[in-house]
Amino acid sequence: MRQKLVVGNWKLHGSKAQLEDLLADVIAGSENLTSAVEIGVCPTYVYLGHAAQILVSSRVKLGAQNVARAGEGAYTGEVAAQMLAECELVYVIVGHSERRQLFHESDTEVAEKFAQVQASDLTPILCVGETLEEREQELTDQVVLGQLDEIINKVGIEAVANSVIAYEPIWAIGTGKTASPEQAQDVHKTIRDHLRKQKEDVAATVRIIYGGSVKATNARELFQQADIDGGLVGGASLEAEEFISICNSAD
Ligand code: 13P
Repeated sequence: MRQKLVVGNWKLHGSKAQLEDLLADVIAGSENLTSAVEIGVCPTYVYLGHAAQILVSSRVKLGAQNVARAGEGAYTGEVAAQMLAECELVYVIVGHSERRQLFHESDTEVAEKFAQVQASDLTPILCVGETLEEREQELTDQVVLGQLDEIINKVGIEAVANSVIAYEPIWAIGTGKTASPEQAQDVHKTIRDHLRKQKEDVAATVRIIYGGSVKATNARELFQQADIDGGLVGGASLEAEEFISICNSAD
């Protein structure tokens, strides 16, 4: 049985004071959640050390939104996976569509980041997803599995077991337009079937979470689908009550 996972991706939002308030409310809300759900938050880099201190005795896990493709070196402005590991992190998001589209991250770069994260004993949350145009051209499976295969080719199928996959259709991110539970389930099943062909136990254990306009009102139906193991939540994770309500939908 895969434990459900709900992670808040705070993107480029909030001040230090807002982070403290939000974390306090999320920690308080998390205390009443069942053990059926694991919960995490990903603030911006600059607050990670502070967030780690606040979260230390809570059940809320900490993640980063990005990582360097290199372990060290002359890479101004970058943050290495090992540095994140020292800040008590658990998760690192890699290949978010905003990074792929706005910062031109290639599949190769995402695969290198994925490997760096695992080498530091952190868990990558690998984002995959298609654009609206690709969906309309019926290229969804090809795009999503192509992004996944880049990772498998780099690290091997076994390593995928120690990761989380986030299916985030780009047309559903920040648009208020959620994939229907059936649309999302179809893609999640395609991903799991693809893994199953290579390694049955990896397919059975890896968590595949959904992201794209998840809200308290649509979370339960999404999370009830056979291959949807939780959510990666953007906008709705910036409001503690809404976020905790989404987590509650995962029990
Ligand atoms: P929204 O929930 O705001 O659509 O964002 C989804 C997302 O990008 C999570 O990583």
